[in-house]
Amino acid sequence: MAQSRSPALRRPTGPPQPRVPNLLMRVWDAPTRLFHWAIVLLMAFSYVSALREWNQLHFLSGYTVLTLLLFRLAWGFVGSDTSRFRQFLRSPLAGLRHLAAVGQREPDTEIGHNAAGGWWVLAMLAALLIEAGTGLFSNGSDVKGPLAHRVGKAASDWLSSLHSVSFYVLLALVVIHILAIIAYAAFKRQDLVRAMVTGRKRLPANLRQPHFASPLLAAGILAAAAGAVWVLVSLA
Ligand code: HEM
Ligand code: HEM
Repeated sequence: MAQSRSPALRRPTGPPQPRVPNLLMRVWDAPTRLFHWAIVLLMAFSYVSALREWNQLHFLSGYTVLTLLLFRLAWGFVGSDTSRFRQFLRSPLAGLRHLAAVGQREPDTEIGHNAAGGWWVLAMLAALLIEAGTGLFSNGSDVKGPLAHRVGKAASDWLSSLHSVSFYVLLALVVIHILAIIAYAAFKRQDLVRAMVTGRKRLPANLRQPHFASPLLAAGILAAAAGAVWVLVSLA
């Protein structure tokens, strides 16, 4: 499999044509896929554990989300091509143009996130960061986040409200994210979920194969992220 670095992933070597044969191409690396599905499970578990007041488990789940987010942010700079921010954040205008064509049935030529999806991904990552970050400073009836005592009661109360509100903002972003994926399946007949599970997609053979970063690098970054969260929480 060609591993050459590709500065413009989404740009085919020629315009996509109906007669170009399709190829099963690797588009998402394992760390990004594991990050995604772990976040889905942890979001659900964070909600259930908050509802049931399983405080220690809620904290543990939140620390894991925080660790994964730190990993994902770093991976957005040094990871595989399709996970890099500079690859999937295109101009907002390109995002709007992409949205205008959502109803059109057309073959999939996207190797990574599309121009609109990229901004949505960034919004979800930011909302997740705000959610997990404010949790550290939150307080409940008989529980306090590890950094709550650092900011005083008034600020902790305010950050607790933000923690509640931002959960619903995150939920709204996620609902739209899932609706968009359903719309892609319904209108464009593009199965994005399978690619997020298997890492592979059927794409025109003239698209350039992305470069994939080493899983060892991913493991190192994940370990460093876990260490940073551990230090933050234990020195609190
Ligand atoms: C808690 C719920 C969810 C959150 C917070 C979430 C968040 C995200 C994020 C941050 C990404 C970008 C991945 C990356 O580059 O790191 C993403 C992509 C994706 N998610 Fe989700 N997601 C959620 C639920 C789901 C569900 C339930 C599905 C399946 C129906 C799904 C399908 C996908 C797909 C297919 C992509 C890739 C989209 C593309 O091809 O550009 N997500 N999601
Ligand atoms: C993405 C990660 C997280 C999600 C989705 C989440 C979600 C929630 C939700 C839905 C609530 C209930 C809010 C309400 O009562 O209206 C809550 C409460 C709370 N969360 Fe989180 N949380 C996360 C991370 C964290 C973290 C990292 C901490 C601290 C280490 C934390 C500490 C708290 C505290 C102290 C409460 C108040 C508990 C109570 O009222 O008894 N959360 N969280």
